[in-house]
Amino acid sequence: MFTKKTIKDVALAGKTVLVRVDYNVPMQDGKITDTYRISQSLPTINYLIEKRAKLVLISHLGRPDGKPEPKYSMKPVVNELSRLLDKAVFFVPDCIGEEVTAKIKSLKPGDVLLCENLRFHPEEEKNDPDFAKALAQNCDLFVQDGFGVVHRAHASTDAITRFLPSVAGFLLEKEVDTITKVMLKPERPLMAIIGGAKIAGKLELIRKFIALSDIVAVGGAMANTFLEAQNFNIGDSLADPNEIPLAKDILRLAEEEAKKRRFVFVLPKDAVVALSVESQTKTRIVDWDTQVVADIENYPKRVPRQASRLEKHEKILDIGPFSGSFIAGSVQLCNTVVWNGTMGVTEVASLQGPVGPFAHGSELVIDSLLGEFGHRPFSLVGGGDTVGYVQERGLVDKFDHVSTGGGASLELMAGKKLPGVEALENKE
Ligand code: 3PG
Repeated sequence: MFTKKTIKDVALAGKTVLVRVDYNVPMQDGKITDTYRISQSLPTINYLIEKRAKLVLISHLGRPDGKPEPKYSMKPVVNELSRLLDKAVFFVPDCIGEEVTAKIKSLKPGDVLLCENLRFHPEEEKNDPDFAKALAQNCDLFVQDGFGVVHRAHASTDAITRFLPSVAGFLLEKEVDTITKVMLKPERPLMAIIGGAKIAGKLELIRKFIALSDIVAVGGAMANTFLEAQNFNIGDSLADPNEIPLAKDILRLAEEEAKKRRFVFVLPKDAVVALSVESQTKTRIVDWDTQVVADIENYPKRVPRQASRLEKHEKILDIGPFSGSFIAGSVQLCNTVVWNGTMGVTEVASLQGPVGPFAHGSELVIDSLLGEFGHRPFSLVGGGDTVGYVQERGLVDKFDHVSTGGGASLELMAGKKLPGVEALENKE
């Protein structure tokens, strides 16, 4: 259960409320390409408007390195937010200072003001108390609703709570509650499907799921490093040679776990390969001799006997149909599935139809999670590329929970305390 005070626990009418949101949204040529984080902040904003509070929204966008940079301006968010709220949103070109104070003072109950990027000030990331005090200056209450950033101890997530009564918004509450429940009390069997490029970025998550879940399936580019660690020829596939020792450690860990209990660690057995990462490229499917590394009684370990049939300069760009079906079949056995990281290069567009040439593995995962094969488990989806993909496919509302957090959800799943949550007031 969520133990922090929320906006439901405090008086709001007529109050000036400083709301930390995470509008660190992907942009291309000044246009927002994914509005999920903005739409997910609406329940809190609408509730505060309904309660006649005056809203001052603060956020970061990108990593501008402590100085103003036009490409990281929050300005493009104004129109999108205004469209989604169906009301005017005011904007100030800074987040502290006289102009900001004057604008805040002119707000009427129900008004919404968005401030310029917090990270245009180096003090934000330094968790500087004077900067936090300046942010707090004209407000009565602080609401943390930027789940994506609560793993950072920054001025707008941590120091700010020393200057204002501080409570959680609905998005933060929902994210922490859902993710914690899955990690502490999942309805078993529990499966984790993990993809993405780097093992290091998800190391703690992988370790945690090896200890916690019944099945762990790995796809995406990180699977290549695992395959290379087992001496498969992966051609010119993306893999990090520095991570091979890490991959070997994880394979050993999985093997140990499988000796203790019924547990399966799944690596791809086949792959979609091509010479280039382009829509019009010619693709082939190659397979290996073996797939399962973890050693359990009924699923004996098999040692790779021969190199994969990848040819020179070919790259693995998606899991193959066998691997996709194997993962989809495993999903049928589970009641809770956590999916973090796409299975292939989903961002390559298709020349015809909505599914790109390297997105079929991820599509099989999606179909299985959404019950297309009969059984529908509870699905928790996270990770920037995964969320971006399901959003692009218009499926974001179909899953049980799609997290707005990247690093924050990984840290929460790994069991770490999140500074931006810890700093909020406890429920009495
Ligand atoms: C994110 O996108 O994960 C959050 O907005 C945090 O951004 P950061 O990694 O730049 O701190």
